[in-house]
Amino acid sequence: MTRLAGKSALITGAARGIGRAFAERYIAEGAQVAIGDIDFVGATETAEEIGALAIQMDVTNRDSIENALSETTATFGQIDVLINNAALFTAAPILDIKEADYSRTFDVNIKGTLFTLQAVARHMIDRGIKGKIINMASQAGRRGEPLVAVYCATKAAVISLTQSAGLNLIKHGINVNAISPGVVDGAHWDGVDALFAKFEGKKIGQKKAEVGATVPYGRMGTPDDLTGMAVFLASDEADYIVAQTYNVDGGQWMS
Ligand SMILES: NC(=O)c1ccc[n+]([C@@H]2O[C@H](COP(=O)([O-])OP(=O)(O)OC[C@H]3O[C@@H](n4cnc5c(N)ncnc54)[C@H](O)[C@@H]3O)[C@@H](O)[C@H]2O)c1
Repeated sequence: MTRLAGKSALITGAARGIGRAFAERYIAEGAQVAIGDIDFVGATETAEEIGALAIQMDVTNRDSIENALSETTATFGQIDVLINNAALFTAAPILDIKEADYSRTFDVNIKGTLFTLQAVARHMIDRGIKGKIINMASQAGRRGEPLVAVYCATKAAVISLTQSAGLNLIKHGINVNAISPGVVDGAHWDGVDALFAKFEGKKIGQKKAEVGATVPYGRMGTPDDLTGMAVFLASDEADYIVAQTYNVDGGQWMS
């Protein structure tokens, strides 16, 4: 299990959830991992538990992005893999969407993804690194949902950005691809469940049970279900894969 031996990775939003699972699996595969998260306390706890480097990082802030690059390269020498994983979820009926909520969600999910990708791509090009960049999309980016307009739009934009960046950067030997999960249990989905309880009058836990029952595989996903694709896309085996978004969702979506 050393498919990423000798590689260094920066994973945003990896203090918990899917990003944490990616960090743990990358370390098991021989990589060095920096966790860049706005939750520095959580990132530090996770880093101590799994043997990663914790970095205070707000992906919406360009200085913070540059600082995360500096800290990662000062410790590991370079960045071979970036996972743009940090994101916020939000839900509201169209008539109730607030501008501040729209702005914050687009800032984290799209501006953060674009400018972290840009900064890491510049670093890779300057050093001649044939790197791998993985963006986190979602089944929410494949189709709109009545209560989830803003989040769905950000994830559709992640898929589009992955295509443009992938096509633009492959001439430098940098592969940009994305992973599109379905419904993955954890703190993120606790929040989703609570929002659906509010807007649809459901009991806490009811929405989770309902979505889990509709997954063709038979249950919600776990963060560990996604790590195989994250390792593959970061490995040399994925060199000829460009600008793609892969569904890892138990059969939810076909594209
Ligand atoms: N959980 C799911 O069902 C699901 C489904 C599809 C896609 N995804 C995507 O997978 C990724 C990970 O999801 P998750 O369930 O682990 O989410 P999560 O909410 O558990 O974790 C997100 C992490 O991002 C961090 N973060 C938030 N804002 C930040 C900022 N400005 N700068 C840096 N870090 C910030 C948080 O502190 C947190 O640690 C996200 O991109 C999400 O949209 C999740």
